[in-house]
Amino acid sequence: MIFGAILAGGVGSRMKIADRPKQFLPLGEKPILIHTLEKFLLCTRFDKVYIGVHEKWVLHAKDIVKKHITDCDRVEIVEGGKDRNSTIMNIVNAIEQAYGENPDNIIVTHDAVRPFVSIRIIEENIDAAIKYGACDTVVAATDTIVRSDDGNLITEIPERRLMYQGQTPQSFNMSLLKKTYNDLTTEQKSILTDACKICVVKNVPVSLVNGDIANMKITTIEDYRVAEAMAGGDKRD
Ligand code: CTP
Repeated sequence: MIFGAILAGGVGSRMKIADRPKQFLPLGEKPILIHTLEKFLLCTRFDKVYIGVHEKWVLHAKDIVKKHITDCDRVEIVEGGKDRNSTIMNIVNAIEQAYGENPDNIIVTHDAVRPFVSIRIIEENIDAAIKYGACDTVVAATDTIVRSDDGNLITEIPERRLMYQGQTPQSFNMSLLKKTYNDLTTEQKSILTDACKICVVKNVPVSLVNGDIANMKITTIEDYRVAEAMAGGDKRD
């Protein structure tokens, strides 16, 4: 089976103005999370789309899904975890409780705050996860990447043609992801915030899927303004 996993368990601490986690802010007519969910529901290969939500926001998430989505039966809301990977693992556990373990299960994990993901990217993630077991969505770096270990002086300027910026979705064979995550030490679990990095540190190959600049992540208020303009929803000026 193939599952979507929309990660909406964060509180958006870097988005200073908001009275709620950023995934619940409006973009045009509906919340950011609903835009993202609609993209996932357009992909008919998903048997179910799970959303991991902070415990305090589960009821609110259920309300807005009911209000905006007609195809509610394909959506399941579960409590998120203390960090991003814990939210993913809560979803994995909920899926296995509902459907049992299957070595062929695929999970497509995606930030709720990337509402401009395309169907092409989602489809290519599913194909790559089936073929390779794990994949990451990336865009080739256009700016030169400068590394500084002390934030003061340049340590290194890596060759730009080898550099990519990571986006989501990140997709996995579910059993492979679970096994790799469970093999980490408690310390590694607390440091590793990126699901693909779990695989990379354990030498599990991760293939690349071409992302898109439009598949931006809404992290700050400035990103939110850009997203509003992209969605054509900024009617204030
Ligand atoms: N996320 C999650 N569970 C967590 C933490 C984050 O599902 N415990 C999700 C967020 O809801 C978001 C995505 O992971 O959709 C990317 O994380 P980020 O942009 O860092 O979101 P926040 O953690 O909400 O933001 P901040 O770091 O500013 O607090």
